[in-house]
Amino acid sequence: MLAENLKEQTLANHQQLEKKLVGQIKGLTSKEDYIKLLQLFYGYFGGLEERINLFIDQNIIPDHANRRKTESIAADITELGGTPADKAINNDLPEINNAQQALGALYVIEGSTLGGSIISKMISGRLGLQNGLSFFNSYGDNTHQMWAVFKNILNGQPAESQPVVVDAANSTFLKFENWIEQHN
Ligand code: HEM
Repeated sequence: MLAENLKEQTLANHQQLEKKLVGQIKGLTSKEDYIKLLQLFYGYFGGLEERINLFIDQNIIPDHANRRKTESIAADITELGGTPADKAINNDLPEINNAQQALGALYVIEGSTLGGSIISKMISGRLGLQNGLSFFNSYGDNTHQMWAVFKNILNGQPAESQPVVVDAANSTFLKFENWIEQHN
């Protein structure tokens, strides 16, 4: 099944990214540091989302309109008194030229909702923040349900598209690591 293959074949990249982010979150000491973290996500996810939206619509993801959007990061940044940064373009981003590659990138974005609640707790615990956490809180109590629906859509994709989706997901993880390195 595609969802399981994605999990297995992107595990190493997820762990690497998670390690980097946990280190960064543990180093947060102020609201300004947190705004910088949100700007990192806004820039990369924002650029990705623009590419993804060229190929994904409600025919492929029926509840696409209800899924988390980069605008929620902009709202958190603004609420905390910051301004959203520039979005990633061109080579900052993985290649997304068709619906399969877009699904691979979306796997990374949607999957990040699962770690999001952990991140949100780490940040509110460290900084004592009560607001500006909507992005990392993602779908709240519905997070696992939304993830189950997304995985079903992945598993409905034709078998021959699997390598393309997996490659795009790995490349989405790696480009995010590059993006973080360049902006820290
Ligand atoms: C501090 C950072 C992070 C932590 C602690 C974390 C933790 C987790 C955990 C615990 C899960 C599994 C949840 C479950 O199966 O119920 C998960 C899944 C996932 N996370 Fe993260 N995560 C982090 C950051 C990220 C980021 C930044 C991304 C993407 C940019 C990401 C992408 C994913 C994906 C795609 C999955 C789904 C794996 C699957 O196919 O089941 N994570 N994460």
